[in-house]
Amino acid sequence: MDFKKKILCIGAGYVGGPTMAVIALKCPEYRIEIVDINHEKIKQWNSENLPIYEPGLEEIVKKIRGKNLFFSSDIEKGIKEADIIFVSVNTPTKTFGKGAGMASDLQYWEKTAHQILKHAQSDKIIVEKSTLPVRTAEAMERILKSNSRNIRFEVVSNPEFLAEGTAINDLLEPDRILIGSHPSKEGRAATDQLIDIYIHWVPREKIITTNLWSSELSKLVANAFLAQRISSINSISALCEKTDANITEISYAVGSDSRLGSKFLNSSVGFGGSCFKKDILNLVYIARSYDLREVADYWEMVVTMNEYQQDRFVYKIVKEMFHTVADKKIALFGFAFKANTGDTRESPAIYVAKKLVEEQAIISITDPKALENAKIDLKGLKNISYEIDPCLAAKGADAIAVLTEWDTFKHLDYNKIYRYMKKPAFIFDGRNLLNHKELYDLGFNVYPLGQPDLNHFE
Ligand code: UDX
Ligand code: ADP
Repeated sequence: MDFKKKILCIGAGYVGGPTMAVIALKCPEYRIEIVDINHEKIKQWNSENLPIYEPGLEEIVKKIRGKNLFFSSDIEKGIKEADIIFVSVNTPTKTFGKGAGMASDLQYWEKTAHQILKHAQSDKIIVEKSTLPVRTAEAMERILKSNSRNIRFEVVSNPEFLAEGTAINDLLEPDRILIGSHPSKEGRAATDQLIDIYIHWVPREKIITTNLWSSELSKLVANAFLAQRISSINSISALCEKTDANITEISYAVGSDSRLGSKFLNSSVGFGGSCFKKDILNLVYIARSYDLREVADYWEMVVTMNEYQQDRFVYKIVKEMFHTVADKKIALFGFAFKANTGDTRESPAIYVAKKLVEEQAIISITDPKALENAKIDLKGLKNISYEIDPCLAAKGADAIAVLTEWDTFKHLDYNKIYRYMKKPAFIFDGRNLLNHKELYDLGFNVYPLGQPDLNHFE
């Protein structure tokens, strides 16, 4: 079949995979190819077992794979043939040199730019999909314009706002599509080509066009604002635990103000995921590099508060279990950074598990989708076991700590679990997920977040 256009996506990860699957689904006249340097990952994308778990993704991939959606390791061929290249390679926080721990490590991006430069034989639109520091497009352009073959590359920014666990829905019904480009004729033409894609299913009024830098910065700011809400509510959960206030009631009361809105006000053991911390630290780094100390300090506190919340949770477990968890078995319910994903990047569970092991606890971890990643994250640590069945994880345990808000944890037979556990049995609910009163009535000593404890001790 003759396709109207060929799209290439470099990077077959959590962003590239689902985004391209939905574009391919909605635009059957476009040929979409996704490439990755990781051959194993490409093999998995072409198999029955996709490399990532995302509700609804498998159905879409199976429907259109081999029709207009292709996964390949041949990056060179892909670049040669493509009209539009989306780049969604990883941009982790730098772990070395200047900006270590704060700035984005752009080595994957830069390698990609050089690859494009080396193999391209015709003009192309390059689309930044991964979250990037402001003015990355400029660096990108410098590399791409260093070609002597008169090939024109137009760089546009089109950040992705999908959240894991709801990616397909977010892609099918986005709040907005953001496209940033140069104000030149070529820049506008490139924007139009992207609009041509999204208009297949997104109403025109939801497609926002801006200049390149606003688009890049908007993505960082959106994530910083979202994370800030969580740190704000988590800071108040600490205050609630010292008073008779209840964080769930406060979230509801505060969120009922239509100016604030009710979403993203769930107190938790802390936010995780590959984006929030990385993007805020990036923002902080950028602000510092422009000598905006107050701006940098302001945003850095969002991350500091998140670390405090995780620390507080571990400290509470140790304190309430009579100041020691040595040789006590603690079942961690959930390891993914949020429900409905197997992703554990920056999951608070990693920190909690490591701290509890330091305190010489014996840990058993249960999670419906994240056990394989948990094993990688905690490799080399002793006294950790992995159980797919939560009841087995809790067997003989002194305590349960809920770390991910999986719906299945709400519907377990806690009567049976209570019988399986050592007494006194503790539950620390790091997501305020469970029915605390019911658990208390069964005999558990229950420690929610930002709410009064329900314990049977005098
Ligand atoms: C986030 C942004 O939401 C998304 O727009 C962006 O494209 C990528 O980063 P993601 O990290 O996948 O998405 O998940 P998100 O739903 O934002 O949750 C992030 C973390 O915050 C999770 O650990 C989640 O459990 C936590 N969270 C979320 C809370 O602790 N409380 C809340 O009320 C909401
Ligand atoms: P994200 O959550 O941003 O999608 P992932 O780590 O899930 O991040 O995916 C990024 C993907 O990009 C990885 O599969 C990685 O192998 C791939 N990648 C990194 N650099 C390159 C490159 N130069 N060429 C092709 N793929 C790359």
